[in-house]
Amino acid sequence: MKIIPTNSLVGAFVEDIDLSCPIESTETDELLSAWHKHGALFFKNQNLDNEQQIAAASIFGEPVPFDFAPATAESEIVHKIANEKGRGIKSGTSTWHTDATWLEMPPRGTMLQAVELPSSGGDTLFASMSAAFSSLSSETQSFIDGLTAVHHGGSKLKKSADSISKIIPEEAVSHPVVRTHPVTREKCIFVNRLFTKKINELNDIENEAVLPMLCDLVLRPELQFRFTWEEGDIAVWDNRSVQHYATPDYSEARIMHRVILAGDPVE
Ligand code: SIN
Repeated sequence: MKIIPTNSLVGAFVEDIDLSCPIESTETDELLSAWHKHGALFFKNQNLDNEQQIAAASIFGEPVPFDFAPATAESEIVHKIANEKGRGIKSGTSTWHTDATWLEMPPRGTMLQAVELPSSGGDTLFASMSAAFSSLSSETQSFIDGLTAVHHGGSKLKKSADSISKIIPEEAVSHPVVRTHPVTREKCIFVNRLFTKKINELNDIENEAVLPMLCDLVLRPELQFRFTWEEGDIAVWDNRSVQHYATPDYSEARIMHRVILAGDPVE
């Protein structure tokens, strides 16, 4: 097995590995530590069935059902992200975000497999939130470290929940604006445009200036890596240190199979 970092601050490709076969424990340790270090791992040409995808995801955490997206017919844990919207039409996943930060313990990580792709487009971008924190002056780092922010699924979540008749959490949750990764101990920006509503300790005028500034750090290309999918590819990312963005630049079907990993406390 070879782990080859991308040419950016986030992500690595894993080569010479077949995730459909049992993986040796020395290799699972190596994969886990590469995942923590690089924030996202990409495996080309895997073509896993549901059971194999769940087994591969369990290298990185505990695969759990996710109530807010339709499960595949055969599995409660593997669910389908199908986007057939037209070019330029944004869905929730086409806003930079971390998955489900409206939960008390948002998913630790997410594994996605490309099942059906448009003939072009549909890339996913990833950005390092530890690099985003490091890019700030020490004065700004001290100012934001210790603040907390409100997260809520809002209307976008309601729409997706309605379509599968699940109950959305009414209560907003608060998380630190800067979280410490439980393994690497790196500090990571933990606010996002999709779900973060306001910073608790700041007044409205301050929120108008500070929250967008922090959310938009993710837009800087030097923090990003853009992954171009082929059918059968797998990406698994660490939601504690990475945000992602699904590019809405296609008009044909794009079907992905997603597995969510149980969350841990945000500290
Ligand atoms: C997601 O936001 O979890 C899905 C990303 C994608 O479809 O590329």
